[in-house]
Amino acid sequence: MSEFKTVRGMRDFLPKEAQALRYVESKARKVAELYGFGEIVTPIVESYDLLSAKSGDEVRSRMFAFKDLGDRDIALRPEFTASVARLVATTLRNEPRPLRLFSVGSVYRYDEPQKGRYREFWQSNFELMGSSRPEADAEIILLTDSLMKTVGLKSYVFKIGHVGVIRGILSKEKLDEKKQNEIMQLMDHLQYDDALKVVQDAEASETCVKVLRELVNLKGDRIFEVMNKIKECVKDYESATTAAENLQEILKLVTESGCRTHVTVDAGFARGLEYYTGIIFEVTVPELDIALGGGGRYDRLIELFGGNPTSAVGVAHGIDRIMLAMQEQKVTWKTNGTRKVVVVPVRETLKIDALKIAQVLRDAGIVVEVDVMGRKMAKALEDADRRGMDYAIIIGEKELKEDAVVVRNLKKREQSTVKIEKVIENLQA
Ligand code: HAM
Repeated sequence: MSEFKTVRGMRDFLPKEAQALRYVESKARKVAELYGFGEIVTPIVESYDLLSAKSGDEVRSRMFAFKDLGDRDIALRPEFTASVARLVATTLRNEPRPLRLFSVGSVYRYDEPQKGRYREFWQSNFELMGSSRPEADAEIILLTDSLMKTVGLKSYVFKIGHVGVIRGILSKEKLDEKKQNEIMQLMDHLQYDDALKVVQDAEASETCVKVLRELVNLKGDRIFEVMNKIKECVKDYESATTAAENLQEILKLVTESGCRTHVTVDAGFARGLEYYTGIIFEVTVPELDIALGGGGRYDRLIELFGGNPTSAVGVAHGIDRIMLAMQEQKVTWKTNGTRKVVVVPVRETLKIDALKIAQVLRDAGIVVEVDVMGRKMAKALEDADRRGMDYAIIIGEKELKEDAVVVRNLKKREQSTVKIEKVIENLQA
């Protein structure tokens, strides 16, 4: 037995798992098409400075970063957003807005491996660039809803907040961005007492601490009641109030557009990534305590990368976690339903005929395996049956002389002699 194994946190996908991965990917691609997002393919490796600029301490400290042979500091992408923002700041800088860009592929984070947390995982990523309007935020939430629905998930919940509410208060208290980021990171880890301690130690007013303490407890699924309480709580903070109104408008658009999905609002919700400036959200299912997707608005990243000021909102869906959730909820899905055929020659001398017939069938779009093990007929059929093949085409001398083969239905255990020209018709019936 070889001692080689995958690197910690990395996995092999065997055919069944790879098929599930590609299935979810194909659904994401379909959603991209339906919502008008064009696919872009960007490199897996980017400059470390680009990827670390606004990703936040947590993602930054977990990057697969290294020097290439030209002594450049580079890293494997931990997400797509920085790459898409780079493109919009450079090559796409003069393209008419809005831009709707979709990507799918593997991303890398040195997270501690556990159920649903890997070091190589797959995301489907949607970025809508160039609109600061709430309809753009609503579209990103609605397309996430469409993806969850179309892969067959049930009982999923959106948790929605707005970084502008808490940042609005902290800014009025003159806490700089670095301090704000520290507080938001603690809130992301639900360490609210520690976060409030940092606020206190930064000599913020007592009123501010009181308002924040009240705010982080405002959450729930009676979303418009919660919104009224949030607005009442922050009424003395102008920019926090504007943020709350923006959140309320987005919630109104999402719910009144006919979306029936369960939504909760959480005023103390924060996400690890530092680039967010507006709404933030995550989607979860009751069976797993990790998010299946997350996103939000980030209106300053493209400018930070040297591009024209461009508003943006986006989301990334964790494909691996969607697959896990489908498993937990026992979601079944149909493969394309093609019949699978094995072609077996009865003797060695007929293998050319087997290859020829296999080609004719493949040209007609039939999935065909040719027996390559040289097994005895009974063994070959037994093996085909075990592997769930539907038909065996048996090539024998006697039948060939009459331009025919034996078609055996492995499920029904019936067989008949069929003229070669009729085989395709026979298999497709
Ligand atoms: P994120 O929340 O860091 O956001 O990641 C999005 C999703 O990727 C998560 O909700 C989760 O499903 C999945 N994910 C994250 N880490 C892991 C892991 N270690 N193993 C498996 N799955 C994981 C972003 O990446 C932002 N770029 C989203 C965005 C796009 N915001 C604006 N535009």
